[in-house]
Amino acid sequence: MSSASTLITNIGELSTQDAAAETPVLQDAAIVFEGERISWIGPARNAPAADEMIDAGGRAGLPGWVDSHTHLVFAGDRSAEFEARMAGQAYEAGGIAVTTEATRAASDYDLTRLLLARAAEAAAGGTTYLETKTGYGLNVEEERRHARIASTVADTVTFLGAHLVPDGADADEYTDLVCTDMLAAVRPYVQWADVFCEKGAFTEEQSRRVLQAGRDAGLGLRVHGNQLGPGAGVQLAVEFGAASVDHVNHLSDDDVAALADSWAGWGAGAGAGTGIPGTVATCLPACDLSTRAPLAPARQLLDAGVQVALASNCNPGTSFTSSMAFCVATAVLQMGLTVQEAVRAATYGGALALRVHTGADRDGARAVGSLAVGHRADLQLLNAPSAAHLAYRPGMPLTGMVLRAGVPVRH
Ligand code: NIG
Repeated sequence: MSSASTLITNIGELSTQDAAAETPVLQDAAIVFEGERISWIGPARNAPAADEMIDAGGRAGLPGWVDSHTHLVFAGDRSAEFEARMAGQAYEAGGIAVTTEATRAASDYDLTRLLLARAAEAAAGGTTYLETKTGYGLNVEEERRHARIASTVADTVTFLGAHLVPDGADADEYTDLVCTDMLAAVRPYVQWADVFCEKGAFTEEQSRRVLQAGRDAGLGLRVHGNQLGPGAGVQLAVEFGAASVDHVNHLSDDDVAALADSWAGWGAGAGAGTGIPGTVATCLPACDLSTRAPLAPARQLLDAGVQVALASNCNPGTSFTSSMAFCVATAVLQMGLTVQEAVRAATYGGALALRVHTGADRDGARAVGSLAVGHRADLQLLNAPSAAHLAYRPGMPLTGMVLRAGVPVRH
């Protein structure tokens, strides 16, 4: 049975973020979707008839946000830690233990309820593809429980048992546990393995073991790296062919060069978006602000030829917001990105970081993060005539209608 078609017409400015399109930003555009799939995009005057019609009223349209880095499975509150930080205290990885204690004490019902509420907030803000992580369990049973709960809500789940060495544990023994029993326990629920490679978390050698174990288990790889200071995270991520390295606040020239080299096999020009993807540098501006860290050098990375993603890093310690619009505004206002570069990083960039930018992803699911025929109908309309308003009117509630796989999740 064929699905009903819906035409959204009178879109003032449509940012498709389609790397292969001749004009990735269309004026006076229309889009048609059938079921979950986009079937036509072009000038409104040429739009085909459809079963239903929505008049965008000249508003701007863009892909739904792809939030490729969150930690949403948690309980408890760390606003006092945030206040202390704003009074001058430095952020340390140890705060993770506070959330671990609160999260272990929460029931399945409560954890699921909290996660659903956070995912709903993200969707209301325009996020249509959501990654989340474990990492506040830090023992076999809790990590398995968090992975299972996460898998019922998020589009894709990352195993971050290597987030912090629990109090009293031996770091090497704990790393072994992460690589063996813990990994086996979470494996049915996760697609990615991650490690926090940082002073105070996991050393280069321990991180290497985690990444190797993740790879051996058939998982995609990601790394938390170079957040609190210079370190081995970026180089390890590139060496292991990780899909992304996230945070990237403290980069050497060699780190930037290694990331850029990883994109050498990636098509440009007419072949844009084809070829073998390298390691995406995922910048987390809300986290940088909330920890008063130097903003990640997104401009320098883009200029060097690195593919960049923007993500919220929503978590209770360093970034308690899922607002991708806020991240986009910050990237434009503070990090030197143009509006379209920032929108691209928060949509197509996130999809690249999760390897869901083409139709050929792991589960055979449709591509997200850009608007093109055949891709999933993940779209947001802004209550504004252009995407520029995201930064021009920062902090304003501009999200209008949000469609996820052709289904309205916000009117
Ligand atoms: O991405 N960097 C490590 N993990 C989180 C912080 C988690 C926490 O402090 O609870 C982050 O910033």
